[in-house]
Amino acid sequence: MRISVIGCGYLGAVHAAALATLGHDVVGVDVDPVKLAALRRGEAPFFEPGLPELLVEAGATGRLTFTDDISAVRGARVHFITVGTPQLKGSNAADLRYVDAAFDQLLPQLSAGDVVVGKSTVPVGTAARLAAKVADGGSGAVLAWNPEFLREGFAVKDSLTPDRLVFGLPPRPEAASTAETALREVYAAALADDTPLVLTDYATAELVKVSANAFLATKISFINAMAEIAETTGADVTQLADAIGFDGRIGRRFLGAGVGFGGGCLPKDIRGFMARAEELGRGESVAFLKEVDAINLRRRAKVVDHVVDLLDHEPYGKTVAVLGLAFKPHSDDVRDSPALDVAVRLTGLGARVRATDPEAIANARALHPQLDYRASFEEAVAGADVMVLVTEWDQYRYLDPDAVAPLVAARNVVDGRNSYDPARWRAAGWTYRGLGRP
Ligand code: UDX
Repeated sequence: MRISVIGCGYLGAVHAAALATLGHDVVGVDVDPVKLAALRRGEAPFFEPGLPELLVEAGATGRLTFTDDISAVRGARVHFITVGTPQLKGSNAADLRYVDAAFDQLLPQLSAGDVVVGKSTVPVGTAARLAAKVADGGSGAVLAWNPEFLREGFAVKDSLTPDRLVFGLPPRPEAASTAETALREVYAAALADDTPLVLTDYATAELVKVSANAFLATKISFINAMAEIAETTGADVTQLADAIGFDGRIGRRFLGAGVGFGGGCLPKDIRGFMARAEELGRGESVAFLKEVDAINLRRRAKVVDHVVDLLDHEPYGKTVAVLGLAFKPHSDDVRDSPALDVAVRLTGLGARVRATDPEAIANARALHPQLDYRASFEEAVAGADVMVLVTEWDQYRYLDPDAVAPLVAARNVVDGRNSYDPARWRAAGWTYRGLGRP
């Protein structure tokens, strides 16, 4: 099938390449010339494991092209909208300007029978509004909403073999049938593998995405709240998580207590959800998300407190090694990153922060050029008074405390991800501080 993908960021670039390797003929459209040039060379414009290989594989088939010319979407039967919906400055609400701009550009290119498929995470009600816009355009195209659940770092796997598909279909049966038929053809490979499919309406499809992210954020903040209780009672939150996680109804995943969640999705999606619920007069229904957000941000402050404490409350001029800048491992994304936030806060307290990350330094520098970045782990920890682990990349997770000891000025470690075995680090002479652990 000929398909267009509008917006070639973390979501669109992977989606376009995945569809091309599945046999479709795909054109990706973006406004950023640097991104387009990289994609055309078969290079990923950001760090995503497996994406360079996928781009090369898809490029070799001749079925994947990239352009800034929107008229190139003509002749495609399905048009995916994969642009970003960041948080509005000065508000909790989502900024829909890129989604609206994509629709405005796309509408004049559409023909009867085309299916426009929204993938961006939007406030509930947006699809119905956009469907009216598509109908007003008079092309005879229809709109479907097909939320995307891919995780950065596993985006290729999640795109090729999703754990479920959700099709939000138009209310008119004929339009719904056009959209469903096209989407079944797009995802034929996944559906043949018995991927669960939920056929639903626009509002449910939009809500599935935000409620999934709200649930995941709540799960993380729940365990981080237990970490706070553990800190005043002497309990160990990691053992607590293991014990409750054995209950199949609860499950151990997303019960990793630590510096908390960040990234381009969870934080802005829970805020956008609160803003939309307020608009709908249902603010109280998701009022708990305010606590979820607050617990999450308190954990960053706790990591900073641990460092300051280990520096005898005199951080000024002390050397602090910050291990990690990305919001999670296997990603170079620093949007709303707890790790970068910790580095910035410590710098603000006058500490000589040396921050490092295997992939995210360039993105971190673009946001915070004032920080002192070190390309290697060894440079970052040299002469450090405290070492802080904030993004659990394997190269930091599996450090040998005896091997690191000679590199630092003082054996102080703050484990912002509860990744280390405290007994092992203490046995090697380190003062160890985790989150919610004695
Ligand atoms: C998330 C959703 O998982 C995905 O389905 C959706 O499409 C986009 O948002 P992503 O932002 O890539 O994906 O990250 P995810 O793996 O969910 O992690 C989010 C944050 O939570 C990270 O900062 C991670 O470090 C943190 N986290 C995760 C914890 O603090 N503890 C955990 O136990 C798990």
